[in-house]
Amino acid sequence: MIWLVGASGMLGREVSEIFRASGIDWIGSDREVDITSRPALSEYIQNLQFNWIVNCAGYTAVDKAETEGNLAYAINAEGAKNLAELAAARDAPLLHISTDYVFDGKSTRPYREEDHAAPLNVYGTTKFAGELMVRENCSRSYIIRTAWLYGQGGTNFVDTILKLMSERENLQVVSDQRGSPTWVRDLAAAIAAIIRSGKDLYGTYHYTSAGDTTWYEYAREIHRLARAKGLLARDCIINPIESALFPSKARRPAFSILSKEKIVRTFGLEIPDWRKSLARFMEERVQRGSAA
Ligand SMILES: NC(=O)c1ccc[n+]([C@@H]2O[C@H](COP(=O)([O-])OP(=O)(O)OC[C@H]3O[C@@H](n4cnc5c(N)ncnc54)[C@H](OP(=O)(O)O)[C@@H]3O)[C@@H](O)[C@H]2O)c1
Repeated sequence: MIWLVGASGMLGREVSEIFRASGIDWIGSDREVDITSRPALSEYIQNLQFNWIVNCAGYTAVDKAETEGNLAYAINAEGAKNLAELAAARDAPLLHISTDYVFDGKSTRPYREEDHAAPLNVYGTTKFAGELMVRENCSRSYIIRTAWLYGQGGTNFVDTILKLMSERENLQVVSDQRGSPTWVRDLAAAIAAIIRSGKDLYGTYHYTSAGDTTWYEYAREIHRLARAKGLLARDCIINPIESALFPSKARRPAFSILSKEKIVRTFGLEIPDWRKSLARFMEERVQRGSAA
């Protein structure tokens, strides 16, 4: 049985959906089993016969982490360590999610798994610490670094921008940061495929959608789709802006494109293009009747 930690989060919900749809035996926990508390974890697993852990829990408020470093570290590093130790004690593999924000964005080609990590912000630092703890404490671990996630119900760029576009006549969006918007549905499918492969090829892997863009181009594509699908009643003008003119608490990498070569080669995954996945996500919104 798979123990899915962080099952109520944006990614966790999608992973639980795919487990359910695939007939995979799983159980989920979230906030009610605090991963920073060893007693809470021990009590929860006392009678739990899991043979896999998938950890989608995390402290994910990138800007807030700048002033809540201890809490972010407790969840992203110590929580990850606790799960790694519990997995190792049961000889169960652990699949743990990490982030493109472990890199400083100075690369000029897509980041490979072995590239030097140098986080620019507190969130990235705590996530990188979590990676080290997972590697050190659980030899049967997968660390999947991903980026720019969006999905139903989470706090994410698509929902934020749709809401702003419905409220304002024009918007300024950062045009000098490049990355790959990634639908949690696609990442969840990749996670399920890795588990089902039974390959035991542990290590660090990168997964995002294929292709890359800037936040500005991404916003324009959301606008185009929203207008075409009737999710937005009128046009909103979107203007590019340099990140230096758009101050935020946390520094973010200017370039966070991840190379997917290793995960494709190892698990034979087909990775959808970000525009196609975004169009499918927006179409689902239309079907659900949830306008911005
Ligand atoms: N979102 C992105 O763009 C992005 C990009 C790269 C990597 N990632 C990584 O992907 C993973 C999933 O992200 P997400 O966007 O799905 O995050 P999310 O929606 O914030 O989900 C995380 C879940 O973990 C729960 N959680 C937080 N602290 C916990 C604790 N101490 N014990 C148990 N559960 C706890 C959260 O509960 P509360 O809601 O109550 O806090 C939430 O349900 C994370 O590891 C994140 O770092 C995300």
